[in-house]
Amino acid sequence: MKKMTLLLVVVSAVTANLSFAADRTGEAIFKAVCTTCHTAGLMNAPKFGDKAAWKPRIAQGIPTLYDHALKGIRMMPPKGTCTACTDKEIKNGVDYMVSKAK
Ligand code: HEC
Repeated sequence: MKKMTLLLVVVSAVTANLSFAADRTGEAIFKAVCTTCHTAGLMNAPKFGDKAAWKPRIAQGIPTLYDHALKGIRMMPPKGTCTACTDKEIKNGVDYMVSKAK
């Protein structure tokens, strides 16, 4: 019985670890999710690294960009369709694209 309890403790420790996995970096999120639209500029998405396209977006302020990336705006889907991404990961993705478009 003791062994069983120990096993349960170990298993729940492992699964807890998984669900609290560290947020992925902006670059990782960009490559996994945002690149689909933002590299080619699909549906008029501001292209990655395109300073002119990003300038008026950045001018809205970073909190607004976070908000639009999380909730979506016009053709930009909420979280860029990545429902499994954490809010922090989406913000990291925004930070990454913004940092490359300044
Ligand atoms: C399905 C295509 C698609 C994906 C995937 C996508 N985007 Fe977008 N995104 C768009 C489009 C289209 C726009 C332009 C929306 C508009 O202004 O009409 C946009 C605009 C934005 C903007 C500017 C919003 C503003 O207020 O001007 C940000 C920030 C953004 N996307 C972040 C992201 C991030 C971060 C990801 C990855 C997690 C991502 N997007 C994934 C299509 C996409």
